[in-house]
Amino acid sequence: MLENLQPQPADKILALMTAFKEDPRDAKIDLGVGVYKDATGLTPIMRSVKEAEKRLWQVEETKSYTGLVGDVGFHHAMRDLILADTVAAENFAAAATPGGTGAIRQGLELIQMASPEATVWLSNPTWPNHPSIIKYLGINVSEYRYFDPESRAVDFNGMLTDLSNAKPGDVVLLHGCCHNPTGANLNASQWQEVADLLIAKNLIPFVDIAYQGFGDGLEADAYGVRHLAKTQPELLIGASCSKNFGVYRERVGILMTIAQDASRTKLNQSSLAFLNRQNFSFPPDHGARLVTMILTDSALRTDWQSELEDVRLGMLNLRQQLASTLQKRTGSDRFGFLADHRGMFSRLGATPDQVDKMRESHGIYMIGDSRMNIAGLNEASIPILADAIVEAGV
Ligand code: LMR
Repeated sequence: MLENLQPQPADKILALMTAFKEDPRDAKIDLGVGVYKDATGLTPIMRSVKEAEKRLWQVEETKSYTGLVGDVGFHHAMRDLILADTVAAENFAAAATPGGTGAIRQGLELIQMASPEATVWLSNPTWPNHPSIIKYLGINVSEYRYFDPESRAVDFNGMLTDLSNAKPGDVVLLHGCCHNPTGANLNASQWQEVADLLIAKNLIPFVDIAYQGFGDGLEADAYGVRHLAKTQPELLIGASCSKNFGVYRERVGILMTIAQDASRTKLNQSSLAFLNRQNFSFPPDHGARLVTMILTDSALRTDWQSELEDVRLGMLNLRQQLASTLQKRTGSDRFGFLADHRGMFSRLGATPDQVDKMRESHGIYMIGDSRMNIAGLNEASIPILADAIVEAGV
């Protein structure tokens, strides 16, 4: 039987991780997978997470199962973090999931259960695992323009034009902040226009928010999703704690639904539980519990927020340094977009050949579409990257 298996396409982000590990050069620079690294190249465990782990170790009395949708305290803490007071508690349902990918997968399956004919609209470009999971599930998919390769900003007219072709009941997958892979984001008035279009065309938003706190700050980064929560009759949200709590391997994610009215919430909640049961039964709990402890303890929360803010400002500083080094090297402002982008990534706009050249000549690893993880840089590697960009003729 198993001899019938066919090789599956490699995920380009994970393939690059392996290629980087296998490169014997000492001076290589990893701008690939979206994992935060400090100036020494380490992905640290946050102080607040360590402290919560210590406390949990003291007080945890059982490893027995939680509920099928995880711990309700986690749902509420995440609802407050992402949505603040924008939704009525009785319209809200949620399930903990194994990471943000788990939330996206469960959300797509929920869409498929509820509306098998719906098309899911993805930004072009988007995180490669979005189309990959959609194709695997056999869901209809379309793309909307998102990124202007010339200006490296959002192609907002293209986005609105393409979404106006969606049929009523279609789903629009939106990045809540820190767009992956481009780093180009909607501003507040653009979010408002998108929200109006969704209402006018009867489209359902599904927001993937995996980098809250990495862009303009915890509150500012939630502007779009909160605006949708206030304005849309229905909303799905897939969130990840991997990055903003640095708990990647603990797999902490959540899928949320906001219903039109309270009468639908029970069915939403039981459907989320059903889906978890079919796919993995009980979601992981350890990381979710740490997150809940941090969000609900004022001292831990204050410490976490200040650590997260340091991470955010560090990345912003690296962006500015890279943009100004390139400005000096080229005598032009054409790389100014690097300082305007937000989050962990920027799409540089290099061709695949130029990306290969930078890898071969300088050991710089970025994704083939020229997505760079800004957190992979430090003061020493910025001039090397700037030289490589200029030499490659980007
Ligand atoms: C990324 O985009 O690099 C991260 O979200 C990691 C992943 O799973 O792809």
